[in-house]
Amino acid sequence: MSTSQTVELSERPAELPGPKARHFVERDQRVMAPMGRVYPLVIDHALGCEVWDVDGHRYLDMTSGIAVLAAGHCHPRLVKTIQDQVTRFTHMAGTDFYNEPMIKAAEKLVSLMPGGAGWQVFYTNSGTEAIEASIKLARYVTGRQNIIGFYGAFHGRSYGSLSVTASKPRQREGFFPLLPGTFHTYYPNCYRCPINLTHPACGIACLDLIEETLFRTTTPPSEVAAIVVEPIQGEGGYLVPPEGALVKLREICDRHGILLICDEVQSGIGRTGKMWAFEHEGIVPDIVASAKGLGGGLPIGAMIARAELAQRWLPGAHGNTYGGNGLTCAVMHDVLSLVEEELMANAATVGAHLLAGLQALQAEFPQIGVVRGRGLMIGVEFIEPTSGVPDHDLAEAIMQEAFLNNLLVLTCGASTIRFCPPLVLTHAEADEAIERLRQVLTICVRS
Ligand SMILES: Cc1ncc(COP(=O)(O)O)c(C=O)c1O
Repeated sequence: MSTSQTVELSERPAELPGPKARHFVERDQRVMAPMGRVYPLVIDHALGCEVWDVDGHRYLDMTSGIAVLAAGHCHPRLVKTIQDQVTRFTHMAGTDFYNEPMIKAAEKLVSLMPGGAGWQVFYTNSGTEAIEASIKLARYVTGRQNIIGFYGAFHGRSYGSLSVTASKPRQREGFFPLLPGTFHTYYPNCYRCPINLTHPACGIACLDLIEETLFRTTTPPSEVAAIVVEPIQGEGGYLVPPEGALVKLREICDRHGILLICDEVQSGIGRTGKMWAFEHEGIVPDIVASAKGLGGGLPIGAMIARAELAQRWLPGAHGNTYGGNGLTCAVMHDVLSLVEEELMANAATVGAHLLAGLQALQAEFPQIGVVRGRGLMIGVEFIEPTSGVPDHDLAEAIMQEAFLNNLLVLTCGASTIRFCPPLVLTHAEADEAIERLRQVLTICVRS
């Protein structure tokens, strides 16, 4: 495949951030609590995969606002749904009262789960709350307390989710003690094997450590309620586990009566070319946590559990105020329809094109250690070419230089640039992203 040398790139803006953006950044710093913004993008408006800032600069968005905008910015169908729903009703406490949008959206979501039936939905407002609900349900129905997560995992910032998260020490520093009974083990990462073996000869031995080490030294399996796993580790570096890893995890869970919770907050809703990333391995989890792409930009999440588990929650055992909000559910329904009808297939085909184009850049830039991903969830890991060690500073510099070259990307893991664009990305936009990255790399590796 060619990475289209003919893509016309617009001029790099003379001054970034522009005067209006600088003005907003100053105002922001006075009233907003510090959050660690990555670069000074101040959005004015957006459409599809394009974003314009308050100074009129245009950017190609490879972030989707952290893997959220499945249907792209301001998709006309979702804009219409919002306009229609907002004039009927927005909120009427879904945990206390019934409404059609929440039922219709749950029906759609269940129809997109394995088997298309036998699941029940609990609505949340975010990913972290979907994980909280999943952990609480797992403890509730098993009567067990312990939860196993993975090094590198990110599941959110509230206490339960944070306890299973093991992504960056900064996220936990100052917040201990966390939830007792949470343990971590190695995520299968064949590019940097945590136990220095080679796949496939190893038989995914890193997962054997759950039974051979954790269960023999740290927690009896009979006290483990759930294993929580991202089918593709997101914040940890867009790590795609080797084939068979999720099957092996499912088998370990089954052997010990442990529930398998798949965190699909970042990898779900068609992003990898299938509705759920776990489908690439043909496994069926017990509980799925979803958010991000689900609301197409409106805040909604969901815990989807096998019905026989969800039904065991006594009324009032768990709840919230905004779950089942009419507006977010109406949009969620249409996002799911769009994903099913066209976006998932587009993520697979344009994702394969983008992956191949980024992989082709490896021949030109030895600083690219590996390009990996599925669909439109792609990571480019940067290394110091002679030693092969992750080059965090280079990845950071590339992200900053990309912004100056009208390309919005984010980092993840130690030294990875992630591409998680809206699922409406076209082949031409993928080519533009590759070409802009080439331009950025040329600047960064020569400076
Ligand atoms: C895999 C995963 N789980 C959970 C979360 C938390 O979601 P939220 O920020 O909506 O609470 C994130 C956020 O990045 C995520 O990537």
